[in-house]
Amino acid sequence: MYKKYFPYFQNSDTIYLDNAATTQKPKVVIDEIVDYYSSYCSNTHRSNHGNANKATQKYEHTRELLREFINAKDKKEIIFTKGVTESINFVVSSFAKKRFSSIIISSLEHHSNIVPWHILGKSLNNGLEVVKCDENLDFDFYDFERILKENPNAFVSVTHISNAFGKIHDIKKIIRLAHKYNAKVMIDAAQSLTHSKIDVQDLDVDFFAISSHKTFGPTGVGAIYVKEELLKDLLPYQTGGATINDVSFKKSTLLDSPYKFEAGTQNIAGVIGFGKALEFINEISYENIEKSEKELYKYLYDELSKIEDVIFYSDIKNSIGSMSFNIKNIVAEDIGILVDKMNIALRCGHHCAQGIMKELNIEGTIRVSIAFYNEKNDIDIFIKALKKAIMMIKD
Ligand code: ALA
Repeated sequence: MYKKYFPYFQNSDTIYLDNAATTQKPKVVIDEIVDYYSSYCSNTHRSNHGNANKATQKYEHTRELLREFINAKDKKEIIFTKGVTESINFVVSSFAKKRFSSIIISSLEHHSNIVPWHILGKSLNNGLEVVKCDENLDFDFYDFERILKENPNAFVSVTHISNAFGKIHDIKKIIRLAHKYNAKVMIDAAQSLTHSKIDVQDLDVDFFAISSHKTFGPTGVGAIYVKEELLKDLLPYQTGGATINDVSFKKSTLLDSPYKFEAGTQNIAGVIGFGKALEFINEISYENIEKSEKELYKYLYDELSKIEDVIFYSDIKNSIGSMSFNIKNIVAEDIGILVDKMNIALRCGHHCAQGIMKELNIEGTIRVSIAFYNEKNDIDIFIKALKKAIMMIKD
């Protein structure tokens, strides 16, 4: 029903179940990017001719759209980046680096929210604390509060939705508890806007790292939301053209946020395309997105549960998007190779979440990740292919 909006599904007969890696792009987004390159391609915030002004206006329009989309207070709280990885690295370098003695993360973090802290010199129980999860991979709030009590000068950086397992953290509760202990909070929202409505003011979050390409927009673009009162404490991650108010050989003075944080020519087409993706989501509506995904997710779980020897690592309460499992005595990647030959796209392995894989004592999983445009028929074809692959391996 929704696939008609996405050229990919007209041009490829692959059953696409790798949406946590990247989502497909609707035609309106592709057209918007082509339009920029083919009719008004110019740099932004510099030259003053007609097409340059149009490019600047469209680029800034995305900022306003995103502000409204996540209910930020002011456009200056929205800083464009290359994606969530850059957003996290920006906050690590520009804000968290010398300010906090402890960093608190969850067990379900992606490498992009583990490695930057290691590079800062923090390691487990030595500046880096990891909140436990229970047998259903749910966040352990007792452990979190204990860690917050023991670490009075902490920065909390946790994912909203696990890319590997689809578990949704109750980030509102996490933020409230962290603030009770005066900790600042960053949320890795790479998988968030794909699935659900976000209100940063209601969450009272300090930093919120956003991806375009997982939200039906182009790759190479993302954003970091920074709560207004914290902007003055952030140093630019990098500097250069378009960040300055005035430069002499003696000194440089910088513009205000967001411009002082967006050095050099930006991914203009990408930002403009991202804006279109946000408009597209508004048109489809989160109500429809959530309805479609919830039904499919449950259907996927029910169908997988019928397969002998399937191993799950959590229930499906508080979960969306990604579903991870294994088949007893079969290496996940072997399934991946075989179903790929049957035209099924999914991801097998550690999903850049080796921390939790090690806790679970496994190398990796088979991960099916759905988006609202997937259909029951996709699941049926996948299940058939999976059964065939299992038979081929066992025979
Ligand atoms: N983080 C992306 C994934 O989960 C790439 O596959």
